[in-house]
Amino acid sequence: MQLFKSLQELRAWRAQQTGRIALVPTMGNLHEGHLKLVDLAKQHADVVIVSIFVNPMQFGANEDLDNYPRTLDADCQALAERGAHGVFAPQVSDVYPRGLAVQTYIEVPKISETLCGASRPGHFRGVATIVAKLFNMVQPHTAVFGEKDFQQLQVIRLMTQDLSLPVEVIGMPTERAEDGLALSSRNGYLSPSERQLAPVIYKTLTALADAIHQQGIDDEIALAGARHELEEHGFRIDYLELRRRSDLQPARGDDHELVVLVAAFLGRTRLIDNLQFTRHA
Ligand code: PAF
Repeated sequence: MQLFKSLQELRAWRAQQTGRIALVPTMGNLHEGHLKLVDLAKQHADVVIVSIFVNPMQFGANEDLDNYPRTLDADCQALAERGAHGVFAPQVSDVYPRGLAVQTYIEVPKISETLCGASRPGHFRGVATIVAKLFNMVQPHTAVFGEKDFQQLQVIRLMTQDLSLPVEVIGMPTERAEDGLALSSRNGYLSPSERQLAPVIYKTLTALADAIHQQGIDDEIALAGARHELEEHGFRIDYLELRRRSDLQPARGDDHELVVLVAAFLGRTRLIDNLQFTRHA
């Protein structure tokens, strides 16, 4: 496996490539969920490049960029064992040579302002900008992202479409522990008792989807029941919303392709999850 630490090295390598290339963008500190993205990417390309870049542009002023875990050696070892072909780990100065204050950016309107975007202003601007830059740097044919960050995935899909970027964006179903908890590096912050409670999130989403999809229960009544369930178990809800899947605007009665998305605190840890389902016509 090759490690490219600068854009120059990456571009020299990229110019030699003739096969199909898949990109898996990450911020490192990899867990099994990331490695599953690599497995999927390998099914869609001859060569898989994983980018590892803690992107300062997507962190808010009150978010701890400096303390974000950086584990490049362990990440590279895990990726080599998993059969990735290359890692692109550039420096901030290589990615933002003029500095963030004057950086040209990409903003995907509306979808970026809701849900996680409401509590993290500017976050999806940072995500859309870095992903567009990574697409231009690596020039992949395809790129794989986890569906766990469903809003991020839809922002990237719309950005790719709006800018006519020649990249096929693939979403990978959320990897879960046996008890249903979505895999996330944040799970490591949970105490043993919080970890036991955490699967209630997925159980609540499943019950909510079932109430709307199978039992035809009114959206607002089903949502109120689900919010109550989470609060009863000690979660502090940031949002629990039923949205149209394509652009994450509020679901109306005649929308069928739906997704329910949640962000909730368990103690000090903010967990997110989502579930896609179809409403009966
Ligand atoms: O999901 C992430 O790890 C990041 O938001 C991404 C897509 C790599 C952009 O920095």
